[in-house]
Amino acid sequence: MTDTTTSTQTNLGRFVEAAVERLREQDPELYGILDAEYRRQAGVLSMVASSSVADPSALICEAMTPMNVTAEGYPGRRFHAGCRYIDEIEQLAIDRVCKVFGARYANVQVMTATSANEVVMFSCLKAGETLLGMQLDSGGHLTHGSPASISGQVFNAVGYGLDGSERIDYDKVQELARQHRPKLLICGTTAYAREIDWSRFRAIADEVGAWMLADITHIAGLVAAGVHSSPIDHAHFTTTCTHKQLYGGRGGLVMIGKDADMIGPDGKRTLAQTIDKMVFPFFQGAPNQSSIAAKARGMGFVGSPQFKAVAQRVVKLSSALAEAFKAKGYRVVFGGTDNHIVVVDVAQKGITGVNAEKALEDCGIVVNKNRIPFDTRPPTVTSGIRLGTNGLAIREMEPEDMVECVDVIHDILTHTRQDSDKTYTIEPDTKAAALAAVAALCTRRPITTYPPVRD
Ligand SMILES: Cc1ncc(COP(=O)(O)O)c(C=O)c1O
Repeated sequence: MTDTTTSTQTNLGRFVEAAVERLREQDPELYGILDAEYRRQAGVLSMVASSSVADPSALICEAMTPMNVTAEGYPGRRFHAGCRYIDEIEQLAIDRVCKVFGARYANVQVMTATSANEVVMFSCLKAGETLLGMQLDSGGHLTHGSPASISGQVFNAVGYGLDGSERIDYDKVQELARQHRPKLLICGTTAYAREIDWSRFRAIADEVGAWMLADITHIAGLVAAGVHSSPIDHAHFTTTCTHKQLYGGRGGLVMIGKDADMIGPDGKRTLAQTIDKMVFPFFQGAPNQSSIAAKARGMGFVGSPQFKAVAQRVVKLSSALAEAFKAKGYRVVFGGTDNHIVVVDVAQKGITGVNAEKALEDCGIVVNKNRIPFDTRPPTVTSGIRLGTNGLAIREMEPEDMVECVDVIHDILTHTRQDSDKTYTIEPDTKAAALAAVAALCTRRPITTYPPVRD
């Protein structure tokens, strides 16, 4: 292997450059695929609501040497030696999470939002006990009681939904809570575009003696930036992942606000102690310390003034996106948006969600098929698509660009023939024009945090 490094580089700089070079020389096949993925991301319009573009400084932390350290336990109380800097990294991550979200407790070891939710469920419920969560069709998540996940298999899951105006039906939540007396009330969503009333949920939880879990996985960045109200001091537990809207670190968090020292479900431990024990040793062994470093870095970005501007742009763009769809005659579910999500009923325009998703991807625009409230089509087909603006805000797009995006999307959808629910044909001229338009837009609005791609 040739040494291409210069003497002015730092140790970490030499390490990273040598690592990339070693990968290229020793495993060109994998290197080629990773390079192609980097190029793909630079050259497509990612409008996936559940993604963002991690800051390179957070991405690189995921690849650092803390990965090599096995460190069961928590800072200052490890079951392994060699954890001096590991403890510093984890404590930094905890302190930054608490500062950014105004929390009094944070567990940064959970690997995903799914495991964060499971940690809270198993802290509050025994097998067979009742939880109340939002139904999938209404915008809830699999982990909130769907039979397809452990949450709906191990516990008795009762679901709430939307009212006639496509808003969370809080009166029905209250009625169901009174009827079923759940031990855990879950709020937070995966495809709901409106502001959530955390205090109403807490009042319902308190009335029936339930613990409250707010899952802010989708809107964590907006909450951190003060663009969406915070559940931290309303919910007993708040969970999120760090990779959807926090632009860095792939993993989960469990946070607690003012109730951190409240005695928990076992009547002995505080809520904070309960979560610590449930994460390790009940659910996990040694955490991924590189991911924890990436979470610390991600939180550094989220706590900066630049991030507030990104979050404000996310919301400005999504509302422009919703308006642009309406102007073209589409039905926007929920009537619009308060966050980064826009759900569009495409079946009404004669195309299924899955065909719309695939046709758009063929043209360089990435969105997700999504069921809409009261959808009669199965999850593999769907009547809608869900779009999000996290990946557009980091390109510093403007509301006018949303009009251009919708023009291209509309052109593709109206020139795609639906052959069956899951098959379609796009007119070749439309596809060529759309690919050119997307390439031009991506060049004009590059990902601002990434170095440009060169051939
Ligand atoms: C509300 C909500 N909770 C949890 C999850 C699961 O996240 P993860 O992929 O980190 O397990 C998702 C993912 O879409 C989500 O939208």
